[in-house]
Amino acid sequence: MKRVLTYGTFDLLHYGHIELLRRARAEGDCLIVALSTDEFNALKGKKAYHSYEIRKRMLEAICYVDKVIPEENWEQKPSDVRLFEIDTVVMGDDWKDDAHFTAALNGLCRMTFLPRTPGISTSDIKKDLKLQKPVDGVSQLPGEPE
Ligand code: CTP
Repeated sequence: MKRVLTYGTFDLLHYGHIELLRRARAEGDCLIVALSTDEFNALKGKKAYHSYEIRKRMLEAICYVDKVIPEENWEQKPSDVRLFEIDTVVMGDDWKDDAHFTAALNGLCRMTFLPRTPGISTSDIKKDLKLQKPVDGVSQLPGEPE
């Protein structure tokens, strides 16, 4: 059983995300997604439109995704790889020179950087919809108490 791990925010889920997840899953037999929490995004100066719980629920509905875990800080990668017995960490190639992956995971597991799907990103969608400024998106799951 080859286990694959990827990291990301996956906000406003789009075709580039689906393609990344499809190709990541094809690298092994089981795909785990470490999904950036709202708190970790705030640390990075990012604000997702959808809350962590909604982004998680959407990822869990995708046939290529076997499990979603929280990504809470930059340092957790080596312990994630050990805990989940990961063979390969897969990311889009925008991350290929980032020491958070290359240095932290060197010698621990394989790392594969896949070409990004051209022409689409969450930032582009926000720009196209003229949502450049942070706004309060949908953050509550239906049926949850206010
Ligand atoms: N990704 C991809 N192709 C795209 C967009 C994203 O392969 N067109 C990959 C990224 O490289 C990353 C994963 O999908 O490995 C999650 O990316 P994320 O940053 O959540 O999505 P983006 O659309 O890149 O978001 P943003 O514009 O906010 O950076």
